[in-house]
Amino acid sequence: MSKFISLLFVLTTATVLLTSFKTNINQNTGIEIPQNIDAIFAKSCTGCHSVDSKNYKAKMKLKLDELGSMKTSKLVSKLSKIAKEIEKGDMPTKKFRANYPEKVPTDEENKMLIDWARSTASQLAGE
Ligand code: HEC
Repeated sequence: MSKFISLLFVLTTATVLLTSFKTNINQNTGIEIPQNIDAIFAKSCTGCHSVDSKNYKAKMKLKLDELGSMKTSKLVSKLSKIAKEIEKGDMPTKKFRANYPEKVPTDEENKMLIDWARSTASQLAGE
């Protein structure tokens, strides 16, 4: 029985540790970026919108790898902009869509991004 209890303890500790190391949770709000959303960002956006990007204009505007550390107000603003840009069909850029058709989000993926970004922004803004 005591072996069972120590096993349980080890498992619980491991889970707590793993959870606290997850980088897709915003530190200030506890908002989690779901895996499916993260996957679309990785496929279609982070090539330009990340700390390592060579596209300075894109990087200055939005670094998706910083979603986890943004303050609430900045997170709300960036999420609203993400929804708006996708809805207008402006992101990813026209050139990117022409060069990498396989990396363009599908209509369904765009809808997922817009719904998630908008509902998370409203939730954070307390609407
Ligand atoms: C080929 C590079 C590239 C890709 C891929 C790309 N973007 Fe962009 N994005 C840009 C550039 C460049 C700008 C700045 C445009 C400007 O200022 O005129 C920008 C601007 C933005 C902005 C405006 C940010 C602000 O604060 O005004 C948002 C939001 C955005 N992109 C979201 C996305 C999302 C979401 C994706 C993926 C679905 C994506 N982008 C894919 C290059 C890219």
